[in-house]
Amino acid sequence: MSGAALLLAVGVSLGLAAEGRDGTVRATIDDAKAIGEVSPLIYGGFIEHLGRNVYGGVYDPEDPTADEDGFRKDVIAAMKELAVPCFRYPGGCFTDLWRWEEGVGPRAERPVRLDPAWRQKETNEFGLDEFMKWLGKVGADPILCLNLSTQGAAEAQRLWEYCNFPGGTTMSDRRRKNGREKPYGVRYWCLGNEIWGPWEIGHRPADRYGVDAREAAKAIKTFDAEAKTILSGSDGPDWNETALSIAWEYVDYLSIHQMFNRKRMLPFVRCADRLTRSIKRAAATCEKVRLAKKSEKRVPLAVDEYIFWDGDRRYRAGEDWTKGRHCLEQDYNLRDAVVMGDVMTVFHNHADVVKIACIAQSVNALAPVRTEKGGVLWRQTTFDPIRYASAYGRGTALRLKTEGNEADDVHASVVRRADGSLAVFLVNRGEKEHDFSLVAPGKWRVAESREIAGDPEAVNSPSAQPVRARPTDDVAVGKDGFSVSLKPCSWLFVLLARCDEGVVIHFED
Ligand code: AHR
Repeated sequence: MSGAALLLAVGVSLGLAAEGRDGTVRATIDDAKAIGEVSPLIYGGFIEHLGRNVYGGVYDPEDPTADEDGFRKDVIAAMKELAVPCFRYPGGCFTDLWRWEEGVGPRAERPVRLDPAWRQKETNEFGLDEFMKWLGKVGADPILCLNLSTQGAAEAQRLWEYCNFPGGTTMSDRRRKNGREKPYGVRYWCLGNEIWGPWEIGHRPADRYGVDAREAAKAIKTFDAEAKTILSGSDGPDWNETALSIAWEYVDYLSIHQMFNRKRMLPFVRCADRLTRSIKRAAATCEKVRLAKKSEKRVPLAVDEYIFWDGDRRYRAGEDWTKGRHCLEQDYNLRDAVVMGDVMTVFHNHADVVKIACIAQSVNALAPVRTEKGGVLWRQTTFDPIRYASAYGRGTALRLKTEGNEADDVHASVVRRADGSLAVFLVNRGEKEHDFSLVAPGKWRVAESREIAGDPEAVNSPSAQPVRARPTDDVAVGKDGFSVSLKPCSWLFVLLARCDEGVVIHFED
């Protein structure tokens, strides 16, 4: 045990609150009541044709890192490091005018268009087949977002047929001619994007959307009864209830989007609380509609966009209507890392209802990974909290009983993994240090412990990465669990292994 940990253990046992510290938070695992299985799909990504997410991010044939298909190998490696299981594609607002057929076939014949959503040029060099090929290299599955703004059920069926039918029809044979013999087996379909929002081309009231979504979902499910459809929901309950009531029979998930506004949601470090409220509200609506329908089916949630943004589009001068323009490229600081860690605890602690979540977005635009030309890639502050959650937070989310957390500074989640180890995720959102102890019956050793702490304003850049998850030896294992001091505005990860059992460590630095 380090000197600091020993002091802490003595301090905790004497019930002392050292100067600058704010009480001891004690969490006990309520083993009898697991929350639920953590769906791996909560660690999803999002590739929208937006700024340099695709062009200059995922795809950049001129870059020295490009592989034979023009995909940046360093981006592929970073996505694998995050173990992203699925990516939503191709938008977002971009989907409103997405004509998927323009992005397949010989590149020279693909139309060049203007995309009004992001005032950019879309050359269609990167389209559906390129996305699928890229997914194969990353090892992830697609969540395709249907254009239900300016298209409908007929186009959805054509897209399904292109993607999923073995052959012998015009659409499936077109895929084969384009180089992909085997069907892609796309399973997840978003029924449009944010159609509740007045900014969307195709925006309409919930009752009209409900009918259109139902018919598109029906069209897809006529072909594949196992297909999973995701209804576009809003943060307001009325829209959700109306649309869900109309489309219920054909819907498998209700989507909600969460924008964490870095300028308006103050104090920003606590903004994951709004996510908790939104999840509870949306889950309650699903339950209300289920009861009204007398349905056995449960409709869980897909938080298929969560966004850390300050509202500024950050367009670069002189790039209007160009391909791969700089857009939404936001620097994140250490506080954002704590918020990201908090978001992960919220997902774990609602593992019973949140079954899909996608960060918006994955590369460059509002993303944990940024690139520059010439093989430069860096990990933003938000990268490691996702990486550790994705690597270790798979298994059963356990319920915690917490005492001494009156200021609600400390948030924690615990996932019991298949090998019996416990992955513990912690954030201290307060301005003072907190002593924390976890009571987990058993004999444990610390297999891994990492911390992000320091100046809340610190950012990563291509030349310096001060905000990464660093090993810490401050975790003091006791008879039944561990104790640790949580620094102000910090994130901590602890992997507890049973003393008599092995533990699978997913990666080493
Ligand atoms: O993620 C950026 C944008 O935010 C998406 O295009 C849209 O769906 C959301 O409003």
